[in-house]
Order: sequence, then C-alpha cells, then structure tokens
Amino acid sequence: MRIPIIGGNWKMHRGIPKDAKEMLEALIPLVKDVRNVDIVIVPPFTALSIIDIVEGTNIKIGAQNMYFEEKGAFTGEISPLFLKEIGCEYVVLGHSERRDIFKENDELINKKLKKALSMELKPIVCIGEHLEDREQGKTKEIIKGQFEGTFNGISKEEITKIVIAYEPIWAIGTGKTATPEQADEVHQYIRELLGNNYDKQTAESVRIQYGGSVKPNNASELFQKENIDGGLVGGASLDANSFADIIKAAQK
Ligand code: 13P
Repeated sequence: MRIPIIGGNWKMHRGIPKDAKEMLEALIPLVKDVRNVDIVIVPPFTALSIIDIVEGTNIKIGAQNMYFEEKGAFTGEISPLFLKEIGCEYVVLGHSERRDIFKENDELINKKLKKALSMELKPIVCIGEHLEDREQGKTKEIIKGQFEGTFNGISKEEITKIVIAYEPIWAIGTGKTATPEQADEVHQYIRELLGNNYDKQTAESVRIQYGGSVKPNNASELFQKENIDGGLVGGASLDANSFADIIKAAQK
C-alpha cells in the first residue's frame, strides 16, 4: 500500500516568515486529524523557519531546490547540508520551472538527486511534457527520456526513497488540469518504466504524484485513480482551506 503524499509548492509566494506562519497556523488545525497522508509544505527558502512551527504536527517541510555541493564559492546557491541541518526533510528537484526558466537539464538534476539521497533528504523529482510534445504524440518519448536521464545510476534501493511528480507543463498554473484518465495513463507508463528498469515490486512501491492545476473540486477524482498517489499543488496550496480540502481528498 502506497501512502499518498500531498505537497504544497508555494513557488515564489509567502516567502515572508510572517505570511508563511499565518498560513500554517490556519492549516494546522484543519488537517490535524488527517491520517495516512504525508503532508509536505514547500515554501521559499526565506520562510523555511516555519520548520519550528510544524514541529510535533503531521506536516513536514521541503525545499524547492538545492545545489549538489555542500559548501564553496557558489553564490546564490543553497547547500543540501544547510537544508538538512535546519530540519528540512524533503527537496523538490527538476521542477519544470527550473528546467524551462533556469535551464536545468537531466544531467544537473541527476547530480542533485544523487547528492540529496546521500544526505538523506527525500527527493520529489518532477517530470512532464510540454503541450507541443503532447500534441505531437510524444508524451511517452519525453517522459522516458527524462526518466532515464534523471534517474541514471540510481539503484533499486534509492529509487524507492524518491517521490516522482508527474507535472504536465501545459497544466501548470493554467487551470487546465489533465483529466484523471490522461494523468493515470502517464502514471501507469512511469510505473511501467520503473518495472522495466528495476522490477515489479519496486514499480508498485514508488509513489507518483500528479501536479498541474489540482484544486479542491478535481482532487478526489484524480486521487481515486489507481496510479495517482497524491498531488503536488501550486496555486491552491496558498490558501489554508483549499489546501486542507485537497489533503482530505487524498485520504483513502
Ligand atoms: P499549479 O497547481 O498552480 O498548477 O502548480 C502546479 C505545480 O507546479 C506544483 O509544483
């Protein structure tokens, strides 16, 4: 049985500690009785101090990115060691905004992934196709390429520690969600890739989240699909009530 995981990726919002704290103080009581769902808030680096507020609750904290070195002359980068030391548990890697806007490629994401695993940070690794890929019938080809590049050299033991987030880029921030069938088809394909590259048992144990315009009104339909193990939520994670409703929709 895979435990669903719901991530709230705040992107470049609520980075002022006071704003982040306000949101969390509203969220904590709304979800305190939720069981069997992993809840992760992924704020900007400047608001990671909310780690102190979630202590003792069922909410964990993740970072939106990291570098693959622990220290040195890397102006503007964030060390996985710093994240680990302040109590950050998860790290999102390879988000499509990092890939598209900041030109991160599979090779770089792979280096970050290996470093995160060696530091015992839990990686949430994003993959997904552009609209033109889908329109040209290339979704599986793109997913396979990202899968092989990003997970190059990752062992069977390591892959089970990774959460994969399937985020079709055309569905991010557009209000255009993939239908549950469209999403499940790709999730099933990712599981097939896991089966081919590792084995069936491994494929069954890795969690695959869906991301892209997940809202309270479409969450439960998506999460009911066999291969969808929760969601990575952008816009709707900024509001405590919407995010709590999405979290509750993941409870089986
Ligand atoms: P939206 O939920 O705003 O579409 O964002 C999805 C996303 O990119 C989460 O990482």
